[in-house]
Amino acid sequence: MTERANGAPLDPSPDLSVSLGPIVLDHPLVDASGTFDLLEYARRYDGDYFADFPYAAYVPKTVTVDARTGNPAPRVTETPSGMINAIGLENPGVRAWIARLGEWAHLRQPVIVSVGGNEPEQYAAVVAALDEYLDAAAPGAAPSIQGYELNISCPNVSSGLQIGADRAATAEVVGACREATSRFLLAKLTPNVRDVTEIGAAALDAGADGLSLINTLKALVLDRDTLKPFLGNRTGGLCGPAVKPVALRMVAEVAQAFPDTPIVGMGGVATGLDALEFIACGATAVGVGAANFTAFEAPQRILAELREELAARGFASAADARGVALSS
Ligand SMILES: Cc1cc2nc3c(=O)[nH]c(=O)nc-3n(C[C@H](O)[C@H](O)[C@H](O)COP(=O)(O)O)c2cc1C
Repeated sequence: MTERANGAPLDPSPDLSVSLGPIVLDHPLVDASGTFDLLEYARRYDGDYFADFPYAAYVPKTVTVDARTGNPAPRVTETPSGMINAIGLENPGVRAWIARLGEWAHLRQPVIVSVGGNEPEQYAAVVAALDEYLDAAAPGAAPSIQGYELNISCPNVSSGLQIGADRAATAEVVGACREATSRFLLAKLTPNVRDVTEIGAAALDAGADGLSLINTLKALVLDRDTLKPFLGNRTGGLCGPAVKPVALRMVAEVAQAFPDTPIVGMGGVATGLDALEFIACGATAVGVGAANFTAFEAPQRILAELREELAARGFASAADARGVALSS
């Protein structure tokens, strides 16, 4: 595509940079927590993956204060136009996690650490441990951790929906973390609620700087031979293209309710046009999750497509496209 429908030349290279609050991103795409293991990608890559890292920021899998072994297998399976998982926040705990941070200290892009827990003190302890580590780290010895994403929305652990579906519990978690850090704080919202803007308001009032959404939809898949639940955890979280219309609706609701708030929209992004739809619904940045499991080069492809889709529509920048679906 080199020209618009009316014959005017296309801007071949729209400005993709966006500001997620104080965090400047080269382009709008970030990985969705739990779907992209940086060290595993670096191991499989024929070259310097850190230099060629395709996302504008790295969001690692949720880390908790203590180690978690996660849920019993099976933990993942495909569904029509999507996938369901019940990993259960498996991670080594924040101390062991910090001990390995030097391995990817040279990542150029900002990092937003996803934080989980069962109660406010546990979330705040993770944030405090990381802030303490960052304050003490020698220059260049630590990745550029610029913010935290509070995972109050995992449907696969007992606390997940108790916190993220409750305004008071949400405010307590966000408030405790706000006291623990001055870094950028995102609250990650669950779609498993009646009104996502109520929880969003509770998070913002308690000190969150921005919102990310959606986490997975609580769902059930049966083993079709035995007619028993397939996953070891019985239920799991549904994601992938099947959930995109739900996610777009919720991002639009949140963007309309809180127009100046940084928003990371996600849920079913598989192409650049999907990402542009999230931006049109008010997302500042866009998370890519299940698509990471489809192809090693998925992020690069989605980014190239996003650039083309913006140019084809005559947008001079990604920021210009933000919220265009919301105005009548
Ligand atoms: C295998 C798997 C693991 C996930 N782990 C996490 C996690 O640790 N923390 C979190 O906040 N979200 C987690 N998620 C949810 C994603 O970050 C994202 O919110 C959701 O999958 C919707 O995006 P998608 O449709 O592009 O996958 C996980 C999703 C998958 C598929």
